[in-house]
Amino acid sequence: MDKIIIEGPNRLVGEVTISGSKNATLPILSAALLTNDWSTFYNVPKLRDIATMKALLLHIGAEIQEDGNTLKIRTKNIKSLEAPYELVKTMRASSLVLGPLLTRFKRAKVSLPGGCAIGARPLNLHLMALEKMGADIKIEGGYINTKADKLKGARIYFDISTVTGTENIMMAAALADGVTVLENAAQEPEVVELAEVLNKMGARIKGAGTDYITIEGVDSLRPITHTIMPDRIEAGTFMIAAGMTKGDVIIKNCPIQNLETLVMKLKETGVEIKAENGSVRVSGDAHIRSVDIKTLPYPGFPTDMQAQMMAMMGIANGLSVITENVFENRFMHVSELKRMGADIKIEGRNAIIKGRPLLSGAPVMATDLRASASLVLAGLAAGGITEISRVYHLDRGYERIEEKLAGLGAKIKRVKE
Ligand code: EPZ
Repeated sequence: MDKIIIEGPNRLVGEVTISGSKNATLPILSAALLTNDWSTFYNVPKLRDIATMKALLLHIGAEIQEDGNTLKIRTKNIKSLEAPYELVKTMRASSLVLGPLLTRFKRAKVSLPGGCAIGARPLNLHLMALEKMGADIKIEGGYINTKADKLKGARIYFDISTVTGTENIMMAAALADGVTVLENAAQEPEVVELAEVLNKMGARIKGAGTDYITIEGVDSLRPITHTIMPDRIEAGTFMIAAGMTKGDVIIKNCPIQNLETLVMKLKETGVEIKAENGSVRVSGDAHIRSVDIKTLPYPGFPTDMQAQMMAMMGIANGLSVITENVFENRFMHVSELKRMGADIKIEGRNAIIKGRPLLSGAPVMATDLRASASLVLAGLAAGGITEISRVYHLDRGYERIEEKLAGLGAKIKRVKE
């Protein structure tokens, strides 16, 4: 396993380009199961989670051709309708093949994901919706066994906003009989991007980006060409890196329109953020003001930016309260940040952070994707050497992050553990 070693504090200066969105790519690659000819996707990020999804699609029988960040995929000859436990346990988003397999091939056998570091993350809402659409679902031996001759349109209310739940059912409904209505649907930009891709394939989806989505089923979908949108969470992570290190960074391919609450909060801390012809210039100054954060489904403050914001509040002036409303256990980074001298107290869903002038480098351990990002951020701004182990968590969602940060002047390197 690799380790990342950072020597701080170091001011970040220069230009960085954001890669394609992990959380848009995962459902879009799964949507390729809905048609039987070659689709082409540009700006596909090279990430561990994308490699897992490719392995799953190859197992199912997809053919994949890659050239850099361009990926061609065709699912003409299916070998298996099963998403095995070995793959699903490493990435919960594997459940995104459930809707497409069922609606196109009438059957699917998908392993239940099992536990996750940040919370139970069940699939009950995905299954509730498919059942309402007429699927026969049995849970046997840790697998979801489901079949349906033809899914039927239904009216579905998600009592919790679920991103992949909304995406799974949008894909299932695209080839169903009749109209499906999703109420309290997730409004994330990645849901909007998937709806755009499905509509380009011939689907009839309206309302993506709102909490009320209608999908009118069609008989078949055609392959397409599409460029994946930039990753808003990677962009947000670099914005915080610039702010925390009092740097001056130009972020290219920055989807600022999908980061409104983060930008609002970062401006409250005193970070300067200016959109300059397609790029965003972020510069921090000496004093970071503390702010309070409550994570919520989009357009609220993104839970995927909570850990990174906590690292920043660790060196802010004053007290801040961060409330995690989406996942029940997304504070795994707190104990590691405290090893670096952060003053953080957890009370239920709240973390109370008393900012310190400087954190100190220390050996720390990554526990989940965004927790590892917060440790990198803390290491960039801390005094001394920070060694982060288990960086495979980081590789799930950040493409070449140490190269990108070194390009901005960070003293960072990856070593074999
Ligand atoms: C997506 O996960 C993202 N992953 C997550 O990003 C992100 O944190 C999350 O949405 C919230 O924004 C992808 O898009 C691949 P949910 P997802 O279903 O869809 C509960 C990252 O760092 N729930 O919106 O799995 C669930 O337990 C990852 O890139 C049910 O109770 O999240 C959670 O508390 C981490 N039953 C809440 O809803 C269900 O059937 C939101 O989960 C489904 C979800």
